[in-house]
Amino acid sequence: MKCRVCREPAVIDIRRHNANFCVPHFEKYCRDQVVKTIDEFEMARPDERLLVAVSGGKDSLAVWDILHDLGYAADGLYIGLGIGDYSDVSGQHARAFARQRGLHLIEIDLRESYDYDIPTASKVTKRVPCSACGLSKRHLFDSAALEHGYDVLVTGHNLDDEAAVLYGNVLRWQTDYLGRQRPTLPGRHGFPRKVKPLVRLSERETAAYCVLRGIDYLVDECPMAAGNKHLRYKEALNATEAASPGSKHAFYFNFLRNAAERFVDDNNDASTLGSCQRCGSPAESELCAFCRLVERTAGAEPVPVELVRKSSR
Ligand code: AMP
Ligand code: FES
Ligand code: ZN
Ligand code: ZN
Repeated sequence: MKCRVCREPAVIDIRRHNANFCVPHFEKYCRDQVVKTIDEFEMARPDERLLVAVSGGKDSLAVWDILHDLGYAADGLYIGLGIGDYSDVSGQHARAFARQRGLHLIEIDLRESYDYDIPTASKVTKRVPCSACGLSKRHLFDSAALEHGYDVLVTGHNLDDEAAVLYGNVLRWQTDYLGRQRPTLPGRHGFPRKVKPLVRLSERETAAYCVLRGIDYLVDECPMAAGNKHLRYKEALNATEAASPGSKHAFYFNFLRNAAERFVDDNNDASTLGSCQRCGSPAESELCAFCRLVERTAGAEPVPVELVRKSSR
């Protein structure tokens, strides 16, 4: 197996591109894919300030590393979700990465700042953990980016993530979600621009990137997400991809090219929303969904992770 570029021994094969790469050319391939994605979807200009949401997993550390390497001013944001050891270890990875590269990491701990955590919120609201988790993360990503003056909020979603979400949304024809699945969501009243620069890279590639760059990341999946629908959709797509390399990429990118625009809801104008009386975020009622969650769960008796039923998101 030889590198496509320099003919030296290759360390990775990428079947959908019918290409093998050595270490330096694989790293260059990853950076080039990110540059292409940023350009194509107008994600960020060189002078803008980026906030990267980092979970301590491979994707978000890889995207932070690549953006930093490309010369962007990119700080990190880590949210302590209070999911037992999983959260403790994920925080350690995010902190260690920031320390090693001298990067700035903003930290928000749900328990310290809002007196709840995800297992407890799940129990109190009687909803799957991913529901309170997603709501909390979305709100804190937006509010931290705006409060600290960042232009763009970056997440580490990769091709496998986006194809699996698309698959789930198409299976049920959830058209309102389909309209929000583009890799760049423009900033609007009360929301920063949100971008996913890794959508051209697969999970296997971001993992390989971290290993080859010596980035120590948390390998474990969230214990509360085990067995959820999202993971089952990924398995289904992996089976298709194995039989027909490139189908995952085609599924997602042809959707973006041929169909995504049709689902954008022009009536979904955030400027018509009111403001939350507590935190000032856009809200459909007196309080935004996040402040309502805090009101319901803050101060409740903490529930250990093991006592919360598994998600079936
Ligand atoms: P997930 O929803 O766990 O698949 O994560 C998707 C993306 O959200 C990651 O790539 C990160 O960019 C971001 N993210 C997930 N968990 C956290 C966290 N605890 N703190 C900050 N960002 C996170
Ligand atoms: Fe959100 Fe697991 S990371 S429920
Ligand atoms: Zn090479
Ligand atoms: Zn609020």
